Amino acid sequence: MADREHFGSNLTVILAMAGSAIGLGNIWRFPYIAGKYGGAAFILVYIAACIFISVPIFIAEATIGRRSHSNCFGAMKKLAPSPRWKWLGILTVITPIVILSYYSVVGGWSVNYFMVSLVSGFSAYGDSSFASFIGSASRPIVFHTIFLGITALIVMKGIKSGIEKFNKVSLPLLFVMMLLIMVYSLMLPGAKEGVKYLLNPDFHSITPSAIAAALGQSFFSLSLGAGTVLTYASYMKKQENILATGVGTAMGDLLFALIAGFAILPAVFSAGISPGEGPGLIFETLPYIFSRMGMEVPFLSRLISIVFFFSIVMAALTSSISQFEVGVSYLVDEKGCSRRQAVYIVFLFAWFLGAICSLSFGTLSEIKLAGRTVFEFCDQLTSNFLMPLGSILLVIFVGWVMKKADVRDEFTGVGTQTLSGRLFGVFYFLMRYLAPIAILVIFITNLVM
Ligand code: TRP
Repeated sequence: MADREHFGSNLTVILAMAGSAIGLGNIWRFPYIAGKYGGAAFILVYIAACIFISVPIFIAEATIGRRSHSNCFGAMKKLAPSPRWKWLGILTVITPIVILSYYSVVGGWSVNYFMVSLVSGFSAYGDSSFASFIGSASRPIVFHTIFLGITALIVMKGIKSGIEKFNKVSLPLLFVMMLLIMVYSLMLPGAKEGVKYLLNPDFHSITPSAIAAALGQSFFSLSLGAGTVLTYASYMKKQENILATGVGTAMGDLLFALIAGFAILPAVFSAGISPGEGPGLIFETLPYIFSRMGMEVPFLSRLISIVFFFSIVMAALTSSISQFEVGVSYLVDEKGCSRRQAVYIVFLFAWFLGAICSLSFGTLSEIKLAGRTVFEFCDQLTSNFLMPLGSILLVIFVGWVMKKADVRDEFTGVGTQTLSGRLFGVFYFLMRYLAPIAILVIFITNLVM
């Protein structure tokens, strides 16, 4: 086999990991959940959940990837003492492909909205536009195909000249674009209400379900338990710092979620609307706001809408390439495919499942799995079940199955990183005890609720 490719530096690893983490979860999920569960108080809980639980899980997943320098399945073959662990390998290859399928449908919606903002603007946008768009048969599938196709082209170019290069350009650009929108949004009349909604420190709303929500959000947002962290870490060099990668990724992800929150909520409140939940917030409420602003400041609002939807497309792409790479890495390492063949195969799988997800908003809405449409089923199966399952098994693998000395080697860059050396004991404890228990709690909460 040819030499395994590597990311160029620790910074580009962090950019790639942050690219995977930063996505639709930051833009529509975080602001809404933070507001609902107590604003600033929730944000504090969220930060604690990241430090004590999510970052240790991230580090566990990265440890397996870097130790084995293999794809998810190969990692288990190399490191696990018993062949039963291959099921964890299979799980972490399948999960991201399922996520990719429905994520690409939403990515396609973003491309559509970007095109609309570019070509005609939202002036003629009515209340039912979003529902009738996603319920139609051909247009969303065309855009799903375009989105998945762009993802495939980037992945085809490989780690360094594809994934790394794309993240290096798009991530800084993404921050700059969101910051600009934030500044604009904060200057709108009545923007203060949005700031209050996000920052109002209501400690009474910190209930057990708020804590479970903080944990769940940080899992989803950091893409834990889906094999992407493992796969990207397998392209890290030995001397690179896993602790810095985990902390850097979590900080970038949180910062972006906050910027997106301050970009979106002030505009929503300024228009006198209460923030809705889910995709409706960015695809229904915001086009409506853009159409109203368009009457007063046509040029500026048009420009802002173009930049905004372009950012969403970029944020979604940096995540979808990481999901796509997991399957490609598996097929190249384990099945002897060329990169090109592997890309075709993953594309076909995700395209078909994605097309079914897309049609489940219209033509196929009658097909129900466990009482849900195919799209909802794929989303909930992965977020509520497969990702927590993957996470708990990965963290147990590192905490209880791998040799402690090997884990320490990875964590400390073979003993060269002094700060990591000092913190190892703490993180090892978190990985062995606190993280598995916390995941179990979310798991049960999701099952019961
Ligand atoms: N973290 C991504 C976001 O915030 C979404 C995501 C969820 C993801 N699970 C994933 C990305 C698994 C990559 C792999 O939008």
